[in-house]
Formats: sequence, structure tokens, C-alpha cells
Amino acid sequence: MSTFPATRLRRLRQTDWSRRLVQENVLTVNDLIWAVVVSDTADPTEPVAAMPGVERLGLNALAEAAKRAAQLGIPAMAIFPHIDPAKKDENGSEALNPKGLVPQAIRTIKEAAPNVGVICDVALDPFTTHGHDGILKDGVILNDDTVERLIQQALVQARAGCDVIAPSDMMDGRIGAIREALELEGFTDTMILSYAAKYASGFYGPYREAIGSGTVLQGDKKTYQMDPANTEEALREVAMDLDEGADMVMVKPGLPYLDIVQRVSSTFGVPTFAFQVSGEYAMIQAAAANGWIDGDRVMMESLMAFKRAGAAGIITYFAPRAAELMA
Ligand code: PBG
Repeated sequence: MSTFPATRLRRLRQTDWSRRLVQENVLTVNDLIWAVVVSDTADPTEPVAAMPGVERLGLNALAEAAKRAAQLGIPAMAIFPHIDPAKKDENGSEALNPKGLVPQAIRTIKEAAPNVGVICDVALDPFTTHGHDGILKDGVILNDDTVERLIQQALVQARAGCDVIAPSDMMDGRIGAIREALELEGFTDTMILSYAAKYASGFYGPYREAIGSGTVLQGDKKTYQMDPANTEEALREVAMDLDEGADMVMVKPGLPYLDIVQRVSSTFGVPTFAFQVSGEYAMIQAAAANGWIDGDRVMMESLMAFKRAGAAGIITYFAPRAAELMA
């Protein structure tokens, strides 16, 4: 038993060198996945009002961003598309277009920075007129019909050179179905990062503005995304996705769900990622802009918190800024 005064925990905290020596967790650039919004109408870029510092990137700007990622040593970029609303329809057909924005963005990054990993979201919401992640019929999101489309969407991404398929739609059975299709087509090395524990969250608000699905979304996503009150269910989701062939799993949102990150990483011992989502980004930026917090400091503290909880890495809009500070 440690008792005072033999034990004084402040002894180790008194100098910078001793604090560094006993530091338990480390954050490095290798922990960062840069979330980027690409657009087929922005040229070169368009600001996202609800996310100060984040811009929708046209393809040329995306190429520059990819080079910047490579220079900074950021391992991977995650692409989120904002498409011309005229291209949206009921079933999100544009998601299956091999010449669409996402395949073009994948090729753009691979050409500009071949060693930067490319991660793509699999879900229909950027492409549907109703803003849902799946096929909507008589007010219901159809699971199995949606999965059929998601398989096609994933194959389009894999054919364009995507390294990591990241289904964020929360349909049941999609990981197994996508894994099987990838294997059949010879994409045996294409990785799957499953958004396994994804909650129906208000923290996605700014993202919906970023990809232009906010004004169109009918209703909410509670019939497929998880109830923020649940933990055991998150473990069941993760267990099933791993059985179906996920290589990595994700918890989303991030900071408000650190307990889930911790449970998942300690229970399964698999690479577990956290998504520091748009609303988390916006809160930090808004408070910093008002002078209420030190933005850089809070950003780094929040990223370290993910590591402490056991995350293998963090998807974050802060990636380039954090990488700069660590360089
Ligand atoms: C949708 C998707 C969402 C995000 C990533 N993929 C939003 C949603 O589920 O409504 C959110 C990302 C963020 O808020 O930064 N498939």
C-alpha cells in the first residue's frame, strides 16, 4: 500500500524530464487519420460554415492535401463526398458510379501521394435525396436491399484503388457480405474498417452540412444507429463484425464514447479506432474562436485521451494541425 509521506506522487511530477520519463501513453503522427471532405462543385475549395478551418476540397486541392499528408507523415486519409444535389436520387445511384466523385478522389490521392492510405465510407447518405444511409421504402430503411447496394459501392471503391473499405451505414450483415464480394473479385488484401459501434448522435450535425445532407434528412437514424444509452449492444456489434471479417473496428462519436472505446479495445484486443466527429471538432473550434479555451492545447489533450482509452488511432479533422504541432 502506498501511504503518505513515504509515497508522494508529486515527486515524479516536479520536472519536465521526470514527467516525460514516466509518461504512460504517447500520441504520434502515426495515430492520425485525416478526415477530408471532397466536392465535385468546389473549385478550388469551399468553407464549411459549421466547421471553421475545414473546407470542401475540389480534386486539385485534394491532391495538394494528399501531398501535405505525405510530407507530415500522416498515414491515411478518409474521404467524405459532397456531391452536386442534382446527382442525388431516392436510391443513391451515384454511389455506384465508377466515374463518380469518390473513385476520382481515390485516384487523385493515389497519384499525388501513393504511400498515403485511402479509406472510404460505405453508406448511401451523401447520395440520397432523403439523406438516409440506406434504401427507404414506406418510411422503413430496408436492410437487405441496402446491403446489396453497399456491396456494389464497396466494389466500385476497391476497383478504384481504395485501401480500406469503411462501412458506416450500420445495416446488419454488411461486413460479411462485403468481405465475401471482395474475396470473390480478388480483392483479398483490401481491408475493412467497420464502423461497428456507431451511435445515433447529435454530434454529426456539422458533418451533415459539410456533405450537404442536413437540409434533406427526413426523420432520424435511430432504426439503424445505436442508442447512446447502450454498451453491451456495442460489444455484440463488434463481435459480429469481427466474425464477419472486419480487420479493424471503430467507435463513433469519439470523446463522449471513450468508455466504449475502452471496453471494445480491452475486450477484443483488435485495432480499435475512434472517430472524433464533426460536432466534437466544431465545439473545440467554437470555444477557441471565442477565446474561452486554448484550441491547440485542448485538441492535443483530446487526441491523447483516445490513446489513453486504448484507441489504435483517431479519425480527425484536426490531423494536419496536430501533425504540425508534433513535427
Ligand atoms: C454517414 C456518416 C456520418 C458521418 C460519417 N459517415 C453521419 C451520419 O451517420 O449521419 C459523421 C462524421 C462526422 O460527424 O464527422 N454514413
